Amino acid sequence: MKMTMRKEVVTLKLVGISGALAGDKTSLAVNDVLATAKLLDSAVKTELIDLRDYEVEFATGAPLVDYNNDTWNVVNTMLSADFLVFGTPIYQASISGALKNLFDLLPQNAFKHKVTGIVATGWSEKHFLVPEYQLKPILSYFKGLVPTGNVFIHNDSFNEESDEIIDRDVSERMQNLADEMIYLQQAIHNRYG
Ligand SMILES: Cc1cc2nc3c(=O)[nH]c(=O)nc-3n(C[C@H](O)[C@H](O)[C@H](O)COP(=O)(O)O)c2cc1C
Repeated sequence: MKMTMRKEVVTLKLVGISGALAGDKTSLAVNDVLATAKLLDSAVKTELIDLRDYEVEFATGAPLVDYNNDTWNVVNTMLSADFLVFGTPIYQASISGALKNLFDLLPQNAFKHKVTGIVATGWSEKHFLVPEYQLKPILSYFKGLVPTGNVFIHNDSFNEESDEIIDRDVSERMQNLADEMIYLQQAIHNRYG
């Protein structure tokens, strides 16, 4: 008798964080990765945290219960994710202060067994390695597994009016990032549950 193995459907929650408080580009880029991940694997659940929509308080070192509801909700949504994609605009050759503040609110093992991808937007190609040298070490500190295919998006890759990504090469790299993230997270899930 021929036995057919039923493939286990793994539902993974991918949370995207847009660390920009100003324009639309970072948020659109993060949303693109979320949408692509869903297209690649319909069992992936997605949620976008656009920091423009929340009043996240400055980290003072106080316990999380001492902060307002928005701060509490954002931190807990991040902690409840199976894996995450972070978007940052490059500010002064670094990540945004809003994103750094969010990290200052997290416990040390926040991203253990979680894939943590990166998309960054900026107006200077010279800063394409900023996420690699400045955001990756922070994610690694939290024990996040950072994929190889992080994406830097120059402002010229966006349509000036709609802010949609119009560069095919960038879209392809975002698709590769989503694909790599799902692959790695499924492997972590198979190993650690
Ligand atoms: C205060 C400030 C500092 C910036 N510094 C840099 C920088 O050092 N390097 C760079 O490539 N872009 C820099 N930019 C450009 C932004 O990273 C870029 O316009 C980004 O796409 C904005 O994202 P948003 O539309 O999500 O706000 C800076 C923008 C601002 C407002």
